[in-house]
Amino acid sequence: MPDTLTITDDRTGNTYQIPIEHGTIRAMDLRQIKTDENDFGLMSYDPGYINTASTKSTITYIDGERGILRYRGYPIEQLAKESTFLEVAFLILFGELPNREELDSWEHDITHQTYLHEKLKSLMQSFCHDAHPMSIFIASVATLATFSTGARSVDDPERRLEQVKSLIAKVPTIAAFSFRHLRGLPYVYPDTDLSYSGNFLNMMFKMSEAKYKPEPALERALDVLFILHADHEQNCSTSTMRAIGSSKSDPYSALSGAAAALYGPLHGGANEAVLRMLQEIGHVDHVPAHIKQVKTGESRLMGFGHRVYKNYDPRASIIKEIADRVFEVTGRNPLLDIALELERIALEDEYFVSRKLYPNVDFYSGLIYQAMGLPVEMFPVLFAIGRSVGWLAQWGELLTDPEQRIARPRQIYLGADQRDYTPIDKR
Ligand code: CMC
Repeated sequence: MPDTLTITDDRTGNTYQIPIEHGTIRAMDLRQIKTDENDFGLMSYDPGYINTASTKSTITYIDGERGILRYRGYPIEQLAKESTFLEVAFLILFGELPNREELDSWEHDITHQTYLHEKLKSLMQSFCHDAHPMSIFIASVATLATFSTGARSVDDPERRLEQVKSLIAKVPTIAAFSFRHLRGLPYVYPDTDLSYSGNFLNMMFKMSEAKYKPEPALERALDVLFILHADHEQNCSTSTMRAIGSSKSDPYSALSGAAAALYGPLHGGANEAVLRMLQEIGHVDHVPAHIKQVKTGESRLMGFGHRVYKNYDPRASIIKEIADRVFEVTGRNPLLDIALELERIALEDEYFVSRKLYPNVDFYSGLIYQAMGLPVEMFPVLFAIGRSVGWLAQWGELLTDPEQRIARPRQIYLGADQRDYTPIDKR
């Protein structure tokens, strides 16, 4: 079977043979298809990049039809069960699981860079008291660039690694400070004796006790949630990270831009939107009326549907299990019953079945965060902590890929043809 695609242009009768590699044709191979010498050549039109591969990647594999997610070949279920977030971060960034020595040194390097410059802390303190923590996060991550001399040396692998470590270490501190800010509480400095997730809980919840002791079940749940969010191939925020990175911006600015893309309710802001939706529904009895509203197009069922998964999101199944363990410690979140009823009805309803709409990662994650005592505004920030690893791995892959160039899509211009300027008193 030849690995080619034969195209006949009915406008000219010309035939073209285009190579197929990895089930893909190169969009630039279409450019030779012209009606005459002056023709620009054929382009493909793909709003939202639904069927366009922008890169080759070796990081994350998703089979949306079968509900499969793997990082560097390892199934998400195994990583969520056996691994820790920092170990998974190493795997995602460097391609292989670390040995004991590599992991110890990696954990040490990350843990010992968690402190922020005091001037950044002062800057964060100057935000309005009720500023959304995700806005604070986005602004503060971008500001990190101002404290880093080597931030713009993106072609130097050693400098890149320094920035990667610095960002992975500092994003939880920024996230926790944004939470303390929202609560009007003093910021808590990192505790380098604790794990990545344990320290994050410390920075969020420590009060007057001399030493904060994270509750093991919550520490583990948070670590697993970070693992589940760590990467998800070319989603909206990762594509933003790559687009910004492709112009060789520093990684702090690029990661801030990626976080901004994540913030929207159709992406990482969905877990916040799910909680608001569950609160609005208020009672299991009101679920059928809400489903009706969704089906008439008045609203969307937040936490349902996915561009890639046309089956149960494997992350949602894992989160459901963690939720049970968290609720044993925190008490059951009363909104869980509404969520379970929504899921039950939706999975039986023709509207959702025919469109292959299943719960995604955000449907249950917010219930866990809320049970841990976090306000809805913090949910996208928590997503950003885990996803920072994926953003940075994808950024590194982009910069070392000789085929990559500055991101610059084409458009189909349908505006006015050339016309002459009319002075204002003649309009
Ligand atoms: N509730 C009701 N209908 C929906 C939903 C939903 N959540 N999602 C999709 N549909 C319908 C949509 O109306 C359309 O129907 P029709 O063909 O009759 O016009 C059909 O399903 C296809 O939807 P689409 O908008 O073309 O799908 P998309 O791939 O462009 O959008 C999505 C994917 C995730 C943005 C969308 O499913 C959505 O808005 N979901 C709710 C928000 C959400 O939970 N986002 C988190 C995604 S997972 C975490 C992450 O990666 O960020």
